[in-house]
Amino acid sequence: MQNPYDAAYQESINNPEGFWGKVAEDCRWFKKWDKVLDNSRQPFSRWFVGGEMNTCYNALDYHIDEQNRGDRTALIYDSPVTETIRHITYAELRDQTALFAGALVDSGVGKGDRVIIYMPMIPEAVVAMLACARIGAIHSVVFGGFAAKELATRIDDARPKLIVSASCGIEGQKIIEYKPLLDAAIDIATSKPDKCIIFQRPQRKAPLKAGRDIEWADAMKSSSPADCVTMLATDPLYILYTSGTTGQPKGVVRDNGGHMVALKWTMKAIYDIDKDDVWWSASDVGWVVGHSYIVYAPLFKGCTSVIFEGKPVGTPDAGVFWRIISQHRVKAMFTAPTAYRAIKREDPKGELIRKYDLSNFKTLFLAGERSDPTTVQWSENNLKVPVIDHWWQTETGWAIAANCMGLHPFPVKYGSPTKAVPGWDVRVLDINNESLPPGEIGALSVRLPLPPGALTNLWENDDRFVEAYFTEYPGYYKTADAGMIDDDGYIYVMSRTDDIINVAGHRLSTGGMEEVLAAHPDVAEAAVLGVQDALKGQIPVGFLVLNSGVTRDQNEIVAEVIAMVRDQIGPVASFKMAAVVKRLPKTRSGKILRGIIQKMADNQEFKTPATIDDPAILDEIGTVLKGLGLTTSK
Ligand code: COA
Ligand code: AMP
Repeated sequence: MQNPYDAAYQESINNPEGFWGKVAEDCRWFKKWDKVLDNSRQPFSRWFVGGEMNTCYNALDYHIDEQNRGDRTALIYDSPVTETIRHITYAELRDQTALFAGALVDSGVGKGDRVIIYMPMIPEAVVAMLACARIGAIHSVVFGGFAAKELATRIDDARPKLIVSASCGIEGQKIIEYKPLLDAAIDIATSKPDKCIIFQRPQRKAPLKAGRDIEWADAMKSSSPADCVTMLATDPLYILYTSGTTGQPKGVVRDNGGHMVALKWTMKAIYDIDKDDVWWSASDVGWVVGHSYIVYAPLFKGCTSVIFEGKPVGTPDAGVFWRIISQHRVKAMFTAPTAYRAIKREDPKGELIRKYDLSNFKTLFLAGERSDPTTVQWSENNLKVPVIDHWWQTETGWAIAANCMGLHPFPVKYGSPTKAVPGWDVRVLDINNESLPPGEIGALSVRLPLPPGALTNLWENDDRFVEAYFTEYPGYYKTADAGMIDDDGYIYVMSRTDDIINVAGHRLSTGGMEEVLAAHPDVAEAAVLGVQDALKGQIPVGFLVLNSGVTRDQNEIVAEVIAMVRDQIGPVASFKMAAVVKRLPKTRSGKILRGIIQKMADNQEFKTPATIDDPAILDEIGTVLKGLGLTTSK
């Protein structure tokens, strides 16, 4: 007999309409769909066509009005940086959300209008997201670690009617003022929002701009609750910008209906979470993990979601994760491996773990970057629970590969996020679009149609959507990850095939950083690549070729470009290392050989390519890498 995973997987691939049609019965529809899947314009596939629903209704009102669970805790806001722990019930969260939705309506926001949310990890960020969903406005959350210019780029692309922000964020011991960043971004942007609603935090209040800025508390005072509007399943719910190969980010668009169906289903199937459980995703609402697993999926499920404003270390110590798991009786948590590497570095023997009762804790889920076996084994040995790596992307919205703990757990193989999740027909392709046999490395790709919840487009950019994901391998979605599948169907994700790097679980474009460096007046040419880092997985390193005739102190120029990246992309880029070189290694046709520099820095074997224009340049690169503290060998 087939195990539940195999049965679900086979059905999802052989009969996707049947599979997802059944799954969708678990959600509240105002009107049932006419067609589960309209695939007539692939890759613009549409799920639950004709279906009417509301995302916020399913996340909040449904549990209160139809399940009589309004008293159940929806969010636990745990903020060691402000010494706050707040339990918010479903009823309270609905009331706050309805009121804020009313405030948005009062400010002229309606269905289809965009609202940018630039906020720290406070419950009001969740309220703002759900309030948009309630009235059919399309939210676009921007991560707080991005600089004003990055925010401005997103403002110009999304053209929001309104921006919701807060006076400040708190990063460990530092207070980060958000308002000056927001004001600068609006100044830079061509598209200006009509209004900004600012949540004033007591740690640092912000001056407001008369006529444009409204204080959150005032907006709430004068508002009356707004009801859920009826949305088509295929209407957009949100835009989330993610790094592309250039400085222009990609505006990933997700729909309402497919997103709701898929995400609610994953809570049990992948994470084994039921409605009475407490779940914790230690990420940020600015990332896809935060959208899907701090906010939407746990609330669709009706369980309790912890929202954590702090760091794995230093707030106050490397025991904070165990304190939270123990105090709130967390059943499963999800974070990026880098967080566990940070803890392991401070508490290598896991001594702080033993101070807490973790008897309720059942599973640790890791994603966002490769889970290195050392970190996985350290976590297994110390926590004594299964540690489950799973693989996904901003674009996919939920896991492509995982060990589905609620269907049928498989033995863990270190270095693999286990098997394709139902819905994802994962193949390894060669350059001729042919499937490769087990064990051979190629382009990890997903045969179309993509399941519900995956991206439906890039914001107002059909051409880029088709070109970026569906052109190179016709009939497939290109993940831009390389990897292989073994004889048992386990997937291995090796590396990106583009110039995206992964810094502390944050996805960044080296191309975007190169654009910033190249704009320095003394820089003729620049290359940025990601080198291995014991804590953050990868960190960016820049190589600069100066214009001829530049005689300034090179250290000054390096310091200036580091400041430029921080100023234009943001501190999240962690760009702290750069060096001047006479030339960059290139092929005879002029392509920069970034891969070689990366291998040298990572101490990996490499062959000097026959096409290199001047092999001697590698000696200089080697010396520069040593100077940066990055060891090299040939
Ligand atoms: N607002 C403003 N600034 C922010 C920010 C935010 N929301 N998030 C990060 N930053 C800043 C940090 O303060 C830091 O600034 P600095 O250069 O002045 O020190 C910089 O951006 C880099 O931040 P980060 O990469 O988080 O490094 P860190 O050294 O502060 O912390 C870790 C390292 C590993 C502890 C941290 O990255 C972490 O907790 N990662 C968890 C992974 C995660 O949440 N991934 C999301 C996807 S699952
Ligand atoms: P993001 O869109 O920020 O979620 O980043 C997605 C990218 O992170 C993927 O394309 C992978 O390169 C990487 N990634 C995410 N999860 C994993 C994982 N479990 N193993 C290896 N790489 C991962």
